[in-house]
Amino acid sequence: MDFSLLWKEISTTVDQALDAFLPHTDEQLPKIHEAMRYSVFAGGKRIRPLLLVLAHNLFSSRWARCVPVACALELIHTYSLIHDDLPAMDDDDYRRGKLTAHKLYGEAMAILSGDALLTLAFALLSGEERFENEFYLAYKLEVPPEVKLQVIGEIAAAAGVKGMIAGQVLDLEMEGQIPDLATLENINKRKTGSLILAAVQSGARLAGATNAQIQLLGNYASLLGRGFQIVDDLLDVEGNEEKMGKKKGMDIKRNKATIVSLYGLAKAKELRDKLYKDAINALSLFEDDAEALRNLTRFVFYRDY
Ligand code: IPE
Ligand code: IPE
Ligand code: MG
Ligand code: MG
Ligand code: MG
Repeated sequence: MDFSLLWKEISTTVDQALDAFLPHTDEQLPKIHEAMRYSVFAGGKRIRPLLLVLAHNLFSSRWARCVPVACALELIHTYSLIHDDLPAMDDDDYRRGKLTAHKLYGEAMAILSGDALLTLAFALLSGEERFENEFYLAYKLEVPPEVKLQVIGEIAAAAGVKGMIAGQVLDLEMEGQIPDLATLENINKRKTGSLILAAVQSGARLAGATNAQIQLLGNYASLLGRGFQIVDDLLDVEGNEEKMGKKKGMDIKRNKATIVSLYGLAKAKELRDKLYKDAINALSLFEDDAEALRNLTRFVFYRDY
């Protein structure tokens, strides 16, 4: 199948499932429900759900069982962006082409909607009885409890205090400082790479891949995660604001320690190109089965939004 069609099919399914899993505004506490939906449906690229499904599809084509996990990853990612944009963190006014959550709903509601997305993600992963809809069935019936537990642990660790949170803390602490490459790679690995790694490895796990296969895919995912943040940092300087849906120049304004601030544009691009080649090489043993992942890899490294 054509890659852009596949991407559309997966993201449409994930969006429909998110709509089914998120609370509806006619239930209680409508304001927070509206805020949660606002950020989730503002228009993200859905890269993490896509990665999860494509990694799964290396081993099995029955990707319906991935959908709740794909949604959980997108909910966690969206929560991280809502909090990342708060005045106490990066202080951004635009995200996904719209005003940031705190600009529209106020800081308290933005914080709480992030908390609510994070907890909803883990409710979904844990297989709660109340998710009785068509998007939940395959995960509920086909995924063995021990695999669910492994996936929950993997995602919790990735989002947690040794993963994304640690990266966000270091990112803030390094503002205004001149980093060395090892420090920067450590920040990027945690704040961005850990969720990407969890997406790829959980996808393979849900398809019944062996630990050795999951480990091998981890090498690929780590390279992808490193590249993902370098490109985000490049786009902050060179990107198209319209397409990105967020303001450029924010890293310079906040004196962020990034690969671009350390190396300059040209050298940062050299590193990106090298990581791209390494990431593609890391997929070689999956031969033709990895064609869709190769397409996604190319998009991630050379995207303009
Ligand atoms: C942006 O992630 C934040 C980073 C981790 C660099 P994305 O570029 O995936 O953002 P959306 O989901 O498409 O808005
Ligand atoms: C965000 O990194 C990483 C997260 C875990 C949210 P950035 O702060 O560079 O992401 P943008 O540029 O605001 O999207
Ligand atoms: Mg940030
Ligand atoms: Mg930010
Ligand atoms: Mg950025």
